[in-house]
Amino acid sequence: MSAATPSAANGRPIPVVLDVDTGVDDALALLLAVRHPALDVLAVSCAGGNVPLAQVVENTRRVLDLADAPPVPIAAGMHRPLVETPQDASYVHGRTGLGTLELPPSERPVEEVHAVELLRRTLLAAPEPVTVIALAPLTNVAVLLRMHPEVAPRIARIVMMGGAIGAGNATAAAEFNVWHDPEAAEIVLTSGVPVVMYGLEPFYTATVGADRIAELGRSADPVARAAGSLLAHLAGVTEDEDRVGSAGAAAIGDAGTVAAVIDPALLRLHRAPVRVALAEGPTRGCTVVDLRTGLGAGGAETKDAGSHVEVVTGLDGARCAGLFLAAIDPGAAVPAR
Ligand code: BDR
Ligand code: CA
Repeated sequence: MSAATPSAANGRPIPVVLDVDTGVDDALALLLAVRHPALDVLAVSCAGGNVPLAQVVENTRRVLDLADAPPVPIAAGMHRPLVETPQDASYVHGRTGLGTLELPPSERPVEEVHAVELLRRTLLAAPEPVTVIALAPLTNVAVLLRMHPEVAPRIARIVMMGGAIGAGNATAAAEFNVWHDPEAAEIVLTSGVPVVMYGLEPFYTATVGADRIAELGRSADPVARAAGSLLAHLAGVTEDEDRVGSAGAAAIGDAGTVAAVIDPALLRLHRAPVRVALAEGPTRGCTVVDLRTGLGAGGAETKDAGSHVEVVTGLDGARCAGLFLAAIDPGAAVPAR
């Protein structure tokens, strides 16, 4: 990432908040975020997305219990998109959102304030700008920026899993998080706040192979075993061999976005304006990434060096998955494939 990227190089962990719609791969992301010493998770905000909001909150609490996480504040946020009719992704994540993983109910408290208010308070109270890791439809983040523009300088950057340069997954053109709430994504991508767009290309590049998934599933460690179950579910339901590289492999998905915050050297970035197609029809929710460098129609200059969006155009997938596995299953020094 760019020179101003927050880093743990000064010896202190990077302060982050996570916005999630837990979700199988959000669960993997939460496990990595709370386990890795390079991050200081200040709060977790929940949005409806993969499954309905109440289920997202419950899953988040249970996953944080599984990781034996400290008492990080959790709050429920927007239960539906700004304009769209909510359509969940339980066809991918399973009825509960955690595939076939069963976790005990949690006693972990939920804040009595709305997630947008939790984010506001957390950002304003933090001694240094905070990285917002957005792994859900961007409804909470967009409402935060619209209601409380004073928080913008307190955001180091928004590292969002969403969008794609090429093909979508929810539809031919659109990635799920952006498709679910296109207006929210457009607000965030044009907000002027620094954004790193971790789209579907890197999302499917950090993968764990079938043998390693099976090995995780046999682990004596409950976190590693849970990760094995979550990855096995993804490998079984969604993963197209062409996208994840080999039969039975699974992408770590949202967890790769967290890994990218931990180790920005994993990424190749390209600064480019990104807009969201908002018209009804087959392109709704598609991210239009302007990678042009020459002259456009009418001879207009196309290069926009001033964009606040950096798009991930390359990822070292093996190292990214390796970082994830080293945190989740530190007992086994085995490569991702
Ligand atoms: C994104 O959508 C959700 O299904 C995943 O959790 C991820 O955040 C991928 O398109
Ligand atoms: Ca997600």
